[in-house]
Parts: sequence; structure tokens; C-alpha cells
Amino acid sequence: MGDHSPFAFLCILLLFFGACFASIQDQVRDRITNLPGQPNVGFAQYSGYVTVNKKAGRALFYWLIESPKNRGPESRPLVLWLNGGPGCSSVAYGAAEEIGPFRIRPDGKALYLNPYAWNNLANLLFLESPAGVGFSYSNTTTDLYTTGDQRTAEDAYAFLVNWFERFPQYKHRDFYIAGESYAGHYVPQLSQLVYERNKGIQNPVINFKGFLVGNAVTDDYHDYVGTFQYWWTHGLISDSTYRMLRVTCDFGSSQHPSVECMRALKIAEVEQGNIDPYSIFTRPCNSTETLKHNLRGHYPWMSRAYDPCTERYSEVYFNHPEVQRAFHANVTGISYPWQTCSDIVGTYWADSPLSMVPIYRELIAAGLRIWVYSGDTDAVVPVTATRYSIDALKLPTITNWSPWYDNGKVGGWNQIYKGLTFVTVTGAGHEVPLHRPRQAFIVFRSFLEGKPMAS
Ligand SMILES: *[C@@H]1O[C@H](CO)[C@@H](O)[C@H](O)[C@H]1NC(C)=O
Ligand SMILES: *[C@@H]1O[C@H](CO)[C@@H](O)[C@H](O)[C@H]1NC(C)=O
Ligand SMILES: *[C@@H]1O[C@H](CO)[C@@H](O)[C@H](O)[C@H]1NC(C)=O
Repeated sequence: MGDHSPFAFLCILLLFFGACFASIQDQVRDRITNLPGQPNVGFAQYSGYVTVNKKAGRALFYWLIESPKNRGPESRPLVLWLNGGPGCSSVAYGAAEEIGPFRIRPDGKALYLNPYAWNNLANLLFLESPAGVGFSYSNTTTDLYTTGDQRTAEDAYAFLVNWFERFPQYKHRDFYIAGESYAGHYVPQLSQLVYERNKGIQNPVINFKGFLVGNAVTDDYHDYVGTFQYWWTHGLISDSTYRMLRVTCDFGSSQHPSVECMRALKIAEVEQGNIDPYSIFTRPCNSTETLKHNLRGHYPWMSRAYDPCTERYSEVYFNHPEVQRAFHANVTGISYPWQTCSDIVGTYWADSPLSMVPIYRELIAAGLRIWVYSGDTDAVVPVTATRYSIDALKLPTITNWSPWYDNGKVGGWNQIYKGLTFVTVTGAGHEVPLHRPRQAFIVFRSFLEGKPMAS
């Protein structure tokens, strides 16, 4: 102490400004001027890479879509959105067919606007996670075969820390994490890391306020009980298969099921036939090619999400070289094409804890805002699975099960627990904002405002 020369001090200052300047330069470099096929819009977009592990050479790709200028983006919160799989892209699903401002036309070239885009309410940060998904990559090939929950969460946390340095205007801003399906693991796990590393810090950079998950994998035992019950009560499987599933799967891991459980799941899949399990009352895409793909996954939520036809448009769009240039994506020449879901990452998934319940308990006790929503026509992570998983938290009820309304119409039901709000969206499948964009928008608005759904 006390013997720093003025020179050393100046050096530190220069270093600080140098780093600061470099990060702003990175931000400017990431600015998207115009995406191919894009209509005129009143909001700013950025995308590019953030290195999360120098040694292995892992870099994650993000796409920031700000709120429109006339809606005051600088006073709106930041929301990180994650899709699941594991191995599925938040750009393919969240951004391009759920909550983002653009949808892709069947020609795979033109974009059109989504009137219920969530960036009307918050600045949206889409992250392709983990490395190996979408444009996110690793220079260490074995990484793709050894990824699990823990590394995914740690890389996502490293991403956040570096990203906030590049976007200092978002430091201390209200920040939320949201996601769907297997992100029912990512969201609470990343939330826990942020919460724990913020502990004891006044005015933290990552000003984490809470999370929102939809049709979320939460607790393997209760999810299984609720899923099989949903299949049976909706007439999708036989009595004998229902019994077999209960016996062979219930106490196992959903990500790593036993051989017996896998066999029972296979029989159930055949009995279900050519339906869209992600949205049981809508037609599947008429494409034998994609259907084959759909039936391949042994794990119900590992295979594709909703409308396989919609996914094909994004597979065309995001593989255009000029689209990749506009996104500052694939600058290292990745050896395989951009895919909506990475089969390698999903198939070789490593650690996957059986339950998120302990994390929910910790974060509920911390007083964070936690909302769980569910589309009630999804057979992959059904509403019954989520109800059993929430029930396992044994939370006191504040407002009992009741309908919520949108313009005099029932939008779904909700129950407010001490520390957690649960909302269903009626008629929505696995990707609620895709199937019921208006109702999903209302859920998101209520979440951000911290207000109960209209009764
Ligand atoms: C991965 O390797 C490429 C080619 O050597 C290099 O340009 C890039 O910076 C590396 N990525 C990371 C995150 O280290
Ligand atoms: C799929 O489309 C083809 C050609 O349009 C048609 O002949 C076929 O019957 C359709 N299949 C299903 C299952 O709808
Ligand atoms: C990256 O670019 C190369 C061409 O340089 C292309 O062959 C590959 O499909 C692209 N991969 C991704 C993930 O975009």
C-alpha cells in the first residue's frame, strides 16, 4: 500500500480505459446493419461471439434485439432467452418462431414481423447454448461429446460476465432469465449461479430479478408421473403401456433412461402414431423426411420442437452465407452446417440432475420473482407434469386455481403460490408463444409487471 508510483497508477488507468474502449469497439462491431430479407424496423440489433473458455476455444453466439426506439429501450429490462433440447438453438426457436420480432417465410429468404414480439416489452438476448449448438462452437471437438448441465451453466455465466463488459449500458439494469423445455434446467441453474455470485455485492452488475420458464423439465420423477398420466388420459396410449411406463421409467433419469424404460417409451411412441406430440390437436408437418427425424429421439424432449415445417425455413435462412455475414456468425468456418438442434450435443449429454426442486427452494427463499407457465396441449412436458413438480415444492397457496381472461375469453388458469406463480395457456402446445402468441405476450407482460393475470 502507498508505494504505487504515479506512473503505475497512470498505467492502470490507461489499461482500464484501453479495455473499456476495446469492449465498446466490440459492441460497435457487433451492430447488425440489416438482415437479408428484413422489413424496416425501429429497433437496434447486435450479434456476435463471446469467448467463454479461452483454453478450449469455446465461444457462444448471441443475438441482442432491443426494444423499439419509440418504446424507450434504455428504461426497459434485459431478458435472456434459452431454448432446451438439450442441443436446440434459441435463435431457431425462441427468436425465429416464438418471441422474436421476425418470422421466416417458407422460401427461407424473407422475414416478416411478429406483432406479439416480446421485444416490445423488454430488450431480448438470445443465446445459442451450449457450444456446439447453432453458431456457438468449440475448437476442442471432444467438448461436443462431453457437455452436460454443469458446463452449460458455467459457460453461460462466463458469457454473461463478458457480455456485460461489452454492453456496459446494461450493467445494473433489471435482468431476467427465461426459457422453455430442457431450459427448465438451464434457467434455474444459471439463476442460481448469478444469485450466489451476486451475494454480498451492493448494486451488482448482473442485476438479477427473477426467472420465467415454460413447459419446463423440472423434476424427473414428477414429470414422468404427470407425462404418462397425460398420455393415458388423452387417449394416446394403451392401458398396458401406461402401466409398463409407470413401472420401468418413474424412478429413473429422463435424460438417461434405462433400457427397459426406453423400450416402453418406444412402444408408447408407436401407439401415439403420427401426431405432433408438441401440440397434440394440430396437424404435424406433411414431410416424410422431417417426420423420420422426429421419431428418432428416444428422449421425448430431445427430438424436434413444434412445426417441423417452420424449422425447415430457418434451416434454409440461417445457412445462407450472406445471412451469416450480416450476423457476424461462423467467422471461423465451422465444419458442419447450422442446425436447429445439434444431435451430437443432445445424444452425448453428460450430467443431468434429476430435480431442480432444491434450486427452486433456494431461489424462492431468496425472494426472486419466479413464474412457471404451461401450454396445456403439449404431450412432451405436459401441464400435468408441471403441476406434480410444483406440488413437490409444497408451497402455500395465496390465490387458488382460477381462470384468467383476455378480452372476456379464458386464456388459461393460474394459481399463485408463496414465491411462485403458475399460469397455464389453454390450447397452446410446447412452444406457447408460437401457438398462442397473444396469450403468451400477456403472460410475459404480467410477469415483468409482477402483477397477477387478469381475473
Ligand atoms: C478457434 O480457432 C480459430 C481458428 O484457429 C480461431 O480463429 C478462433 O479464435 C478460435 N476460437 C476461440 C474461442 O478461441
Ligand atoms: C402429404 O402431401 C402429399 C402431396 O401433397 C400427399 O399426396 C399426401 O397424401 C400427404 N400426406 C399426408 C399424411 O397428409
Ligand atoms: C460455416 O461456414 C462454412 C463455410 O465456410 C459452411 O460450410 C458451414 O456449413 C457453416 N457452418 C455453420 C454452423 O454455419
